[in-house]
Amino acid sequence: MWLQLALLVASVFALYFFLKPRRPKNFPPGPPGYPIIGSIPYLMKLDSTITGGMTKMGENFGPVSSAFMGKNRAIIVNGWDAVKQVLFREEFSGRPPFIFTVDPKRNYALGLMFVTYNELWKTQRRFTLRRLRDWGFGKTTLEGMIQEEIQDLLEETDNKIKLSNGIMSVSDAFGIPVINILWAVMAGKRYKHDDEKLKEMLRRIFESFRSQTYVNNLINDYPFLQHVPGFSGSFNQFMKTKAHTEEFVEEAIDEHLKTRDPLNPRDFLDDYITEMEKETKNPSTTFFREQLVALTMDIFNAGAESTSNTIAFGLLYMILHPDVQEKVVQEIHEVVGKDRIPSYEDRTSMHYTEAVLLELMRIATITPLTVPHYTMEDTTLNGFNIPKDTLVITNLDSVNMDKAIWGDPENFRPERYLTKEGKFVKPEQAVQFGLGKRACLGESLARMNYFLVFTSMVQRYRFAVVPGEGKPSTVPVQGFTLAPQPFSALLIPRNQNNS
Ligand code: HEM
Repeated sequence: MWLQLALLVASVFALYFFLKPRRPKNFPPGPPGYPIIGSIPYLMKLDSTITGGMTKMGENFGPVSSAFMGKNRAIIVNGWDAVKQVLFREEFSGRPPFIFTVDPKRNYALGLMFVTYNELWKTQRRFTLRRLRDWGFGKTTLEGMIQEEIQDLLEETDNKIKLSNGIMSVSDAFGIPVINILWAVMAGKRYKHDDEKLKEMLRRIFESFRSQTYVNNLINDYPFLQHVPGFSGSFNQFMKTKAHTEEFVEEAIDEHLKTRDPLNPRDFLDDYITEMEKETKNPSTTFFREQLVALTMDIFNAGAESTSNTIAFGLLYMILHPDVQEKVVQEIHEVVGKDRIPSYEDRTSMHYTEAVLLELMRIATITPLTVPHYTMEDTTLNGFNIPKDTLVITNLDSVNMDKAIWGDPENFRPERYLTKEGKFVKPEQAVQFGLGKRACLGESLARMNYFLVFTSMVQRYRFAVVPGEGKPSTVPVQGFTLAPQPFSALLIPRNQNNS
């Protein structure tokens, strides 16, 4: 009996030491890691949000710290100097092989966003960037289409507020226009704003973005947990949305295969299919149908939620800062007038508005932790050893909220980017779209959309608190990106006489 008990205790100890995650030599400091759960309980106790936890790791252990996300070792990078190094250095440009990103048939990720720093990613990113630029990303050729979309949005808003005494839900107003613009470039089609299929897909995408939790790290280590109630909820929701979006994209590709004329490409999908055909005899080609599906979904997912949340946050801050709103409107009236929809070119004369838009992105930081990076080789950072295959969490929020850079980061103060003469100057630390090899692929389109939609909305309506309701909260809903909490506003049309 005693021998059996001793054997049992010895086995438990042996298992504990076998499963306990090991901190490599000269690895950055951090909390201990336990078998299976790693440092997750410690991180959960640090703060109720993942981003808050990552910032506190910086406060507790310095700019480069470490933790175990389940059994995976991770470094957490806080503050401008360390963040800049990680984003610019090639050996930090990989992506972790998360199970929800890996194609089960091939055992590696497809698309762009979750593909590690390999030949597939390099070829696909180069091709995609070039072709999206040809189709107008960030250029005036696309501007006309965005303005048409805005015209529809304004008419729809006019109709909505007529029926509701001026009150409108703002937080979810921009998903369809933004996705329409993306989809027009990708697949040559714009949807009606009340299209049920598109609305349903958007709702699912937005919901799945809210599903980032520490628990998903455990599912990654122990895939059987996806079948265990209590663990599986957010993960399964994410996978369901993925399947739903996949179906939407597959249908569009089938339709393109049936209707395309190779000599007259209509959009990105036509371009890509032509490239696939050129490469059919190349056994190591990276252009194939599943890759096109994954790539299109990445653009859809990365572009729609982030841009529409940014616009909604922008208007939320305008409700809270009516003085800033009025100054923006005054500048719009001076540069654009009251009747014409703003053009992207106008921004070069709109220094105050540019400062407001940048300050909104800083204070709201909707992608606070970028997409996780991964080390491609053994390396060092700030004197610590970082082995190959280490997860890298880059905290952009720690840069956006750094007192040493901004002085009063918690205050919404667009003037911080204006010279004495009122000229807008963008500091190098304003990096909402990331930097280096993995920087956002859609930055030029996102900036254009953000500027045009935001300025057109405040040119047309004054945004105010709904009478009888409290001010909308700036505390975001957590997730893979941050979203404003659902909120409505009172929209008062500004017309020639009532500006
Ligand atoms: C305001 C809107 C947006 C913000 C704040 C934003 C921000 C970011 C950030 C921070 C990253 C990660 C950088 C890193 O991992 O270091 C990223 C990646 C990415 N974004 Fe955006 N983004 C926005 C809009 C868009 C749009 C409109 C598109 C599509 C057209 C897009 C496509 C992508 C893609 C494909 C990646 C992955 C790039 C790669 O891994 O190579 N984003 N974005």
